[in-house]
Amino acid sequence: MSITGVKGFNDILPGEVEKWQHIEATARRVFELYGFAEIRIPILEKTELFCRSIGDATDIVEKEMYSFEDKGQNKVTMRPEGTASVMRAFIEHKLYAADPVAKLYYLGPMFRYERPQKGRYRQFHQIGAEVTGVTDPKVDAQVLTMLCHFFAELGLTEPTLQINSLGCKECRPVYRQALKDFLRGKIDQLCDDCKRRFETNPLRALDCKSTGCKEATAGAPSVLDYLDHDCAEHFGAVRRHLEAVGTAYTINPRMVRGLDYYTRTTFELVTGLLGAQSAVAAGGRYDGLIADLGGPALPGIGFAMGVERVALLLADQEFRKRPDLFIAALGEEAQREAFRLMAGLQRQGVSVEIDYEGKSLKSQLRRSDKFRSRFTLIIGEDELAKGRGALKNMDAGTQDEVPLSVEEIGRSVKG
Ligand code: HAM
Repeated sequence: MSITGVKGFNDILPGEVEKWQHIEATARRVFELYGFAEIRIPILEKTELFCRSIGDATDIVEKEMYSFEDKGQNKVTMRPEGTASVMRAFIEHKLYAADPVAKLYYLGPMFRYERPQKGRYRQFHQIGAEVTGVTDPKVDAQVLTMLCHFFAELGLTEPTLQINSLGCKECRPVYRQALKDFLRGKIDQLCDDCKRRFETNPLRALDCKSTGCKEATAGAPSVLDYLDHDCAEHFGAVRRHLEAVGTAYTINPRMVRGLDYYTRTTFELVTGLLGAQSAVAAGGRYDGLIADLGGPALPGIGFAMGVERVALLLADQEFRKRPDLFIAALGEEAQREAFRLMAGLQRQGVSVEIDYEGKSLKSQLRRSDKFRSRFTLIIGEDELAKGRGALKNMDAGTQDEVPLSVEEIGRSVKG
């Protein structure tokens, strides 16, 4: 019996991979316009890093981490997200000493033991970005504008931006208490998860999908009515800056993030096109995280998008690369010539395909069509004798004679 992959861990095959490359290249291009530099972080971290940052009472830490003891009895975890690792690296390498304002982006696989379904996997990929050292709400608006710019560059009108503010260390506990007081008489209606985390994390009931939780939280107090003066000012300024640069948003006061480190601005880019997995990208401010991880008291803000979900939104588009040229050759000598031309053209930066098996002209032309090559060059005995081949422009449907020289063919194909 053949061995299959592990459930929730996917292969990304040629045909699909080109779409991923396009997403990654677009992210790099857009993020670099905004001054972000790439950071590469390891897959394995000390388990404690995620307990301290994401929070012990979150689904991720309670139920979803790939954690184990390595052969040296160290407790390690395959990263479930990137923010904690980037901040760990920021602190460990004292990046703040040169400049407290760091703009960093990263991409790569993340691991969560969730129930796999469309848009939700156990190994999934994020492209994320983080900014440290800026409290000014302009940076919140800039990060959100960059994220929306990225989706616009991909030609996507979905997803749309929702924002909220979760307040700070001072005002959130007051809201938490108000919400608990509101829900206390309705605990029986809550789902088992929300009942269990009523004391530790009551806000989760606000965005829980179960009918009971929806009913119990209808008419619940809004976090936005409990923001203290500074948090309310900050949120108002984020909104004004977004409006000033034309970044469209809606406010969703029921948005609760599944990670504990957030303060003030939080956001999600949501779509109705992916069923239950509506968040394509998400993030927010984490003004206490760097200090909680043992670093200086610097604020931070960032986001991560799920690459699989972005790829699903681009489902109908074709990104497979087209070769510049297919050389169809008939007879052994012509095949040797095709091979020689191919090597020379590739060295000149022209992408070339040939048929390796000496098939009929008809079957070679079928193969050229399958590759959707931009040009096809035909070389038979006559062409060899003349030293000229027939070069067909497949898009225009026109045909020219070209000398069988690397330079001449290269010039014609590159136009
Ligand atoms: P998150 O909301 O846990 O936030 O994940 C961000 C995005 O990753 C989600 O919106 C979704 O698109 C994708 N994602 C999450 N889990 C899965 C999964 N199992 N399968 C497929 N895609 C998934 C964070 O991870 C934060 N670190 C974001 C952030 C950065 N906040 C501040 N900076």
